[in-house]
Amino acid sequence: MDTKLYPRAAATPMGFGDRWLRNRLAVAPMSRVNAGPDGIPTDDMAAYYARYAEGGFALIITEGTYTDGAYSQAYAAQPGLVTPAQMRGWRKVTDAVHAKGGLIIAQLMHAGALSQHLSRAIAPSVVQPVGVMMSEYGGQGPFPLPAEMTREDIRVLTDGFVQAAMYAQQAGFDGVEVHAANGYLLDQLLTPHLNLRTDEYGGVMANKFRIIGDIIGGVQAGAPAGFITGLRLSEGKVNDLAYRWPEGAAMAREVLEQVKLAGPTYVHIAAEHGDWRRDCLYEDGHSYGRLAGMITGLPVIVNGGLHRPDVAEEVLENGHGDILALGKAALADPFWPRRMGLFCVRDGI
Ligand SMILES: Cc1cc2nc3c(=O)[nH]c(=O)nc-3n(C[C@H](O)[C@H](O)[C@H](O)COP(=O)(O)O)c2cc1C
Repeated sequence: MDTKLYPRAAATPMGFGDRWLRNRLAVAPMSRVNAGPDGIPTDDMAAYYARYAEGGFALIITEGTYTDGAYSQAYAAQPGLVTPAQMRGWRKVTDAVHAKGGLIIAQLMHAGALSQHLSRAIAPSVVQPVGVMMSEYGGQGPFPLPAEMTREDIRVLTDGFVQAAMYAQQAGFDGVEVHAANGYLLDQLLTPHLNLRTDEYGGVMANKFRIIGDIIGGVQAGAPAGFITGLRLSEGKVNDLAYRWPEGAAMAREVLEQVKLAGPTYVHIAAEHGDWRRDCLYEDGHSYGRLAGMITGLPVIVNGGLHRPDVAEEVLENGHGDILALGKAALADPFWPRRMGLFCVRDGI
């Protein structure tokens, strides 16, 4: 890769809610499954996340963090935001990142049918997930058949996200990202063949989106002004990487109309498969990210293979997104922005 070709636009600072990003580079959420006993973040995690801020990333989105003690946990050794001890563990992480001048957002995640940790999983409907569990996360063999979530399950999961966001705020996070992507529970609600419900949580898009909207509304009602509430969306799933919405851009528009009504601070469009062009572009030349900006008017984070200079340039120059989230490239080199010369010094940090 010719490092000189990475677009200079990625070095441009921008406003983000009422915060300020020192460049357009974010660390994508990445599960590391190395929390301490009881899902408590460790000192090693504080050092790990601080390295990205020191390396010049403006924004760090944490690994998916579980939100309740019932059915949300995806992996063993996954950190949570469910107990005061977990909250205090995260405080060490946020302090370390802020000391290096970065912003940090907690990704809140409910595994739904894709839990590799629980013997009983819940989902919108009783549908066997395709694929097999991932050995690196401690899973083995097919996913268990999930139970259809009840009204009580829905109350517990919605309250769990809202409570986890309160803990995130107490832990010093700049905000939270509601994970409705990659095949996990909130994405299962949006996905036609995984949500067969006939009640007010199935059928038309407003119903499928209802729980996500309630979570965003609940988080915002309980948070102080300025606390960031993001939403991550994707078409592909971790267990079905090539999946695309059956109605393509038309369905993306339907989802985004609901996002606009819910009013998060930003939208994050992910291509977990790692090929943004293949996974996010539609036949008419629009992308999920560009539609997100057009329909919601919100800042858009895009993700998936954006360490490639040509793709990053196409995204930034053609209005497909405002902020580039890097996954594996950041993992390989936490000092990537500095080494690319994309790190703007601010406030002497
Ligand atoms: C080790 C690893 C763990 C991941 N864990 C998460 C996660 O917890 N939450 C999430 O939304 N995405 C997760 N992802 C997906 C990344 O956020 C991203 O979508 C993917 O790596 C593609 O981006 P890239 O091409 O820049 O790597 C993970 C990816 C990797 C490589």
